[in-house]
Amino acid sequence: PPKISFSLGVLTVSDRAFSGNYDTGDLSGPAVIETIQSILNNYNSNNDNDNTPGTTSPSTTLKMKIIETAIVQDEIKMIQDKLISWSNDDDDDAIDLIVTTGGTGFSPRDVTPEATTEILERKCDGLMSFCTLQCVSSQIQPLASLSRGTAGVRGRTLIVNLPGNPYAIKEILPILLPLSLHAVADMK
Ligand code: MTE
Repeated sequence: PPKISFSLGVLTVSDRAFSGNYDTGDLSGPAVIETIQSILNNYNSNNDNDNTPGTTSPSTTLKMKIIETAIVQDEIKMIQDKLISWSNDDDDDAIDLIVTTGGTGFSPRDVTPEATTEILERKCDGLMSFCTLQCVSSQIQPLASLSRGTAGVRGRTLIVNLPGNPYAIKEILPILLPLSLHAVADMK
């Protein structure tokens, strides 16, 4: 089958993960990568009868290339520096999809959505709103509404903000990823 590949950057935003305060190391960034990989595996093995909205036509193999991963503190400048450099396509190597994880809540240091909004060229408020609504209603997860994450485009890069909790990441990505890949395909 034809292959469609997209490039991925995963940015963990967490003071504690940055300073190595977790015994386990950062769990959020790896959760994003593992969850996306398992969604793709599932899609690729079922692609005869898949008609998930937003995905490509049946019998396409989806492949991701992980281009960048990083951990930064909950600091606007650090977050923006990564988002700007990863989406910079001067030399034609902009990342298709950047997933940030963490810093979307209400603690005083949570600034990921503010940092992201400032560097977006085109906003897409509906994407995260839709995913939140789906999580709240289909999984009966009212906590999903406590993530202030945003989404939008810089250059040819779609940037989305996920919460830091690995459990939340697993709930949201099955809804978010197909729609994100549809958007990414439209920017090619
Ligand atoms: N979204 C889903 N789908 N499931 C969850 O359990 N937890 C929420 C929310 N989003 C949650 C979720 C909680 S408790 C918080 S505080 C926010 O995400 C923000 O998390 P963050 O500050 O790690 O980004």
